[in-house]
Amino acid sequence: MKRIHCRRMAAFGLMAVLAATADAAQAPIPQLAGKDGRYALLVDGKPFTMLGVQAHNSSNYPAALDKVWAAAKDAHANTVEIPVAWEQLEPAEGRFDFSFVDTLVAQARQNKMRLVLLWFGTWKNTGPQYTPEWVKFDNRRFPRMVDREGKGIYCLSPFGEQTLQADKKAFVALMAHLKKIDAAQRTVIMVQVENEVGTYGTVRDFGAKAEAAFRQPVPPAILARKKAPVPGAASGTWAEVYGPYADEYFHAYAVASYIEALAKAGRAVYDLPMYVNNALRDPIEPMAPWKGNFASGGPTFDVIDIYKAAAPHIDIAAPDVYSPESSKVVATLSLFQRPDNALLVPEMGNAAGYARYVYQILGRGAIGVAPFGIDYADYSNYPLGSKLKDKAMAEPFGRIYAAFRPMQGQWAQWALDGRTFGIAEAEDRKPQTIDANGWKITASFREWQFGTANNGDRPPGTESPNGGAALAQVAANEFVVIGQNIRLAFEGAGANAGKPSMYARVEEGHFDNAGKWVMERNWNGDQTDYGINFTANPTVLKIRLGTY
Ligand code: DGJ
Repeated sequence: MKRIHCRRMAAFGLMAVLAATADAAQAPIPQLAGKDGRYALLVDGKPFTMLGVQAHNSSNYPAALDKVWAAAKDAHANTVEIPVAWEQLEPAEGRFDFSFVDTLVAQARQNKMRLVLLWFGTWKNTGPQYTPEWVKFDNRRFPRMVDREGKGIYCLSPFGEQTLQADKKAFVALMAHLKKIDAAQRTVIMVQVENEVGTYGTVRDFGAKAEAAFRQPVPPAILARKKAPVPGAASGTWAEVYGPYADEYFHAYAVASYIEALAKAGRAVYDLPMYVNNALRDPIEPMAPWKGNFASGGPTFDVIDIYKAAAPHIDIAAPDVYSPESSKVVATLSLFQRPDNALLVPEMGNAAGYARYVYQILGRGAIGVAPFGIDYADYSNYPLGSKLKDKAMAEPFGRIYAAFRPMQGQWAQWALDGRTFGIAEAEDRKPQTIDANGWKITASFREWQFGTANNGDRPPGTESPNGGAALAQVAANEFVVIGQNIRLAFEGAGANAGKPSMYARVEEGHFDNAGKWVMERNWNGDQTDYGINFTANPTVLKIRLGTY
């Protein structure tokens, strides 16, 4: 008896020790933290700025990974976004293959990268091409949508009950596996559920199930959040409440509800932050009902409220930025950054001209950004992105990320505290201003470091817009600034308005691994007499001002 008792005690003790060790070894699970309508992604319990890159669509195989890590390293990224496809996870129904996920996570750790997994399931850019073959060609079990004329189309229906059950099963299997292999180290920090959802060519599903649902009253949760852009009934059917927007809003609701089922079930198993990405509708043209001009039902800016109501387990509706015009970029960022929606840019063109938007995006307080196709697979993104496929493609982003990287933690905290500002040069090359607390900062572009040349001569390398800066107001009169190809001038405003001012210190330096500022030199004389001039080399400055 005694022996058994001792053994039991010993076994119990060992289990307790193992549990305690596992607990102690377990990093806190990544999560999104919010404060006053601003956000930070917490990784290992600390604010984290995702300096991301996204791999190509077909790099989700072990053989492709070397070229992914090489490019991510040249980009000085801390996170790689990469697909995990339903077709590879469950090639035969009920037979799961996690070998790619295992290799990916192990290699990410070796390469000191975090991961964002992109679940390419029922919808990838709206289509079913990443579903397993047993799904792709079985219209009976996995019905496609039906257009207004009653014709079946390419896109799987959000009303396919078996499709939802099957996708959910695979997604939950993925999350359960992640929990098993990654709960201690948390290499995977977020999951994107599906990819650029919605439908091209038809505004919604007109199949029998969809039609029946369309005739139902709008659910109260949607009514409470989404106001009709045109006068309509306060409640009733989709058509009664939303008039000409009813079809599009209904489809957004249907797709969002489907995604919610996956996210809810997946998070019940392993509670990582989850988001959806969006192929944008034009952020500038006047609001009008869908006319074939974007993927109806996707999380476009005008239906974020529907996604929030229908998919509460999705943290973020995130814009994929592929229109390079600065006016559109600014408009898109403004529309997606909301007190109820953290800003995350999970995809952006990889052409050099997009690099300056990193300043604007992170300066606005985004939790992260990732140019798409920073991957040395033999595939160029031109004309959507860069013509290049090598180091030169990663480099414009790499130079900026390298400067941000040592202070990414502080940056995320400053963003959460609402201290950051971002600016990117526009096509008109005109000066722009930032209204900080007590200071107006004017940014100008194409300037020489030693003043302005009266002959119209402009610095080489500024032929197309590539200037930008991100600023953090770390104290009343102190800014940490990172920038390139930009001149900044500071002037008292607000409480300092009308007071003469001068620089107390303009220190060039960096933050060390412990987050301590390391000064390398102090700019003065010619280096500040013509404004604070950043060249093409991203530089970090700590600027302190005073008034007299
Ligand atoms: C947006 C999609 O989300 C990505 O998967 C990729 O297809 C890019 N477009 C580039 O084509």
